[in-house]
Amino acid sequence: MLQQLEEIRQQTIVALENVLDLETLQALHSQSVGKKGQITQVLRMIGQLLPDERPRVGQRANEIRQELEIAFSERESIIKSYELARSLEEGAIDVTLPGRSIATGKLHPATQTLRRIYKIWAEMGFQVYRSPDVVDDETNFTLLNMPAHHPARDMWDTFYTTQEGILLRTHTSPGQIYAMQEYAPEPVRIILPGMVYRYEQVTARSELQFYQVEGLAVGRGIRMTDLKGTMTAFARRYFGEERKMRFRCSHFPFTEPSVEIDIECILCDGEGCNVCKYTGWLEIAGAGMVHPVVLRNGGYDPTVFSGFAFGMGPERSTMLRHGIEDIRYFWGNDLRFLEQF
Ligand code: PHE
Repeated sequence: MLQQLEEIRQQTIVALENVLDLETLQALHSQSVGKKGQITQVLRMIGQLLPDERPRVGQRANEIRQELEIAFSERESIIKSYELARSLEEGAIDVTLPGRSIATGKLHPATQTLRRIYKIWAEMGFQVYRSPDVVDDETNFTLLNMPAHHPARDMWDTFYTTQEGILLRTHTSPGQIYAMQEYAPEPVRIILPGMVYRYEQVTARSELQFYQVEGLAVGRGIRMTDLKGTMTAFARRYFGEERKMRFRCSHFPFTEPSVEIDIECILCDGEGCNVCKYTGWLEIAGAGMVHPVVLRNGGYDPTVFSGFAFGMGPERSTMLRHGIEDIRYFWGNDLRFLEQF
């Protein structure tokens, strides 16, 4: 019986040398030292021996089992490190490669410009006021001193809806009416940013939709000098201290007097280039003193209250600042364009 045990030991040690995977190792383990393995089977027959021989055989069996268990675990760690090395080699995981970058969203260039504009007006005490994009004819035109059939309505090519008298606002000025009717007779100092819509041929310079930022200040004793000073303060912060600006006479039915505001061309510094069409100036806003009729329509007594209003188009200045040549990029949703900002 002792000899049988020695044979099991010897065979197992030789067999172990050739085992290359964990599965075979497991099988060999149960076959030799496992619960129903060869050593156990030898021990089962121990009863057939003479009583004084039994302890020696039992002791030797335990020794061999312990020795083999150690040999098995050594073999197991060898196989495991071998398998790891092999999978690294075959798996082609190159840990030095750069990781996959996670795509992050960015603010639309128009939004970035709007936020810069909001910030400057906020510093000057102007709050943001929102008004609807879909308005009636009355608010977009009539209450702004352009009754039905008034020729000035032609200044804006309008998108009418299928519902009689309902249209997409052609400018943010109807927001003045909403705001005044809400606040009268309290003083007002707001900007009204939003999308406006024009039924126009789409070209590199004009789109069907674009942003405007309207401004409105109503109170007692507001004068033209306040308009000029406020617009100058804005332009200095937005375009830089040194940038020259000028106020040009103009006409809008809802302001009197009316002006258009130009700044010195930011591309050629007033020298003249194809962007400013060799005038040296760029138009940035229309503005004026709120017309008495409009004040009254908003709920203010024009003999007591006065105010100024302006409207500017932020896309234009974004185009200039970034050298964007075609306004259609703004709403074309081409990521190759948008990702540059
Ligand atoms: N609403 C005018 C436009 O769309 C701009 C403007 C606003 C002019 C306010 C004067 C006062 O062109």
